[in-house]
Amino acid sequence: MTDTMDIKITKTKHSRLNETDFSNLPFGKHFTDHMFVADYVDGAWKNFEIVPYGEIGLSPAISALHYGQAFFEGLKAYKHADGKVTVFRPDKNAARFNKSAERLCMPELPEEIFIQSIAALVDVERDWIPTAPNHSLYIRPFMFASDPFLGVAASTTYKYIVLTCPVGPYFSKTLRVKIENQYTRAAEGGFGYAKAAGNYGGAMLPAKKAVDEGFDQLIWTDAKEHKYVEEMGAANVMFVLDGKLITPSLDLQTILDGVTRNTVITLAKDWGYPVEERRVSVAEIVEGAKNGKLTDAFGAGTAATIAPVGSISYEGEEYFLSDPKTREFSQKVLNTLDAIRYGRAEDPHGWNYVVQSAE
Ligand code: PLP
Ligand code: COI
Repeated sequence: MTDTMDIKITKTKHSRLNETDFSNLPFGKHFTDHMFVADYVDGAWKNFEIVPYGEIGLSPAISALHYGQAFFEGLKAYKHADGKVTVFRPDKNAARFNKSAERLCMPELPEEIFIQSIAALVDVERDWIPTAPNHSLYIRPFMFASDPFLGVAASTTYKYIVLTCPVGPYFSKTLRVKIENQYTRAAEGGFGYAKAAGNYGGAMLPAKKAVDEGFDQLIWTDAKEHKYVEEMGAANVMFVLDGKLITPSLDLQTILDGVTRNTVITLAKDWGYPVEERRVSVAEIVEGAKNGKLTDAFGAGTAATIAPVGSISYEGEEYFLSDPKTREFSQKVLNTLDAIRYGRAEDPHGWNYVVQSAE
């Protein structure tokens, strides 16, 4: 399908498309008919294939299962009214994929392979892309270590797989969030900036406790003092405080360099809106919520999209923010982003990667 990549395509004989209820698409539950698979063997990526989605045979001794050499990406494909299919900023995900790979002592996957594997799979699955508002095809590329070896050492073989799922909105309501001041997601020198599987496993207990307390999500704080805000569940967190967009900076390498975060910052700068990427203290957020200067707060992520925060709790006190529908900044971001992604507006930054049809 490209000059450089030969992908063997084996199509399923039994499509599940007509059995899938597109009016009810919980995140990550429904998989399309096919997946992309490749192997890293003898120092090179090979065996590029699109095969029917299904189980894969693996040794129970693979080091991904024991030592967590595994990471993933998340991006989305959209179908425009004219039928054109685009993937949003796959080059950014390719770059982050390789940052994660490097930190976990795993092999680089050339950007060309990352993008072409996704384009080829999305092309095969075009009929699976939902067209309802806020719906899209979620793309999950991931890599894991596949040596059957219990020694603690980097694997010599790996698998790269891409799955796709038709999805609706990840969050269906305004979020009640809690600022976490006990548990830590990532520390300086760690691997918080990588989309490592282990970062998500370690977040599950604190997240469950927050849910048990009646919250939808938690906002992580720094590992040293729990005084500075980091990110929100599986999304970056952004605020409008005193007329400025503020968000934690990437400097300490404890948070993910989110594609949505970068996109929101770029749009804000395009609009001449003041932007501050810096350390954001819990104290200023709580103070802003109290005195009304915190006019917007939202999670920003591929799955989460722009997820409005309705209230923030800290040390047992709950602070309520304005009705999300009345919030100027996040509403404008959401509308602009949607218009670009679904092809209703210009795409001045070239964020939409067009998936060519092989037929
Ligand atoms: N932070 C974490 C921990 C995430 O899992 C995600 C989701 O991918 C994000 C931030 C947002 O990143 P992106 O906008 O690239 O999806
Ligand atoms: C994404 O937005 O792609 C994520 O990674 C969130 C996911 C863990 C549900």
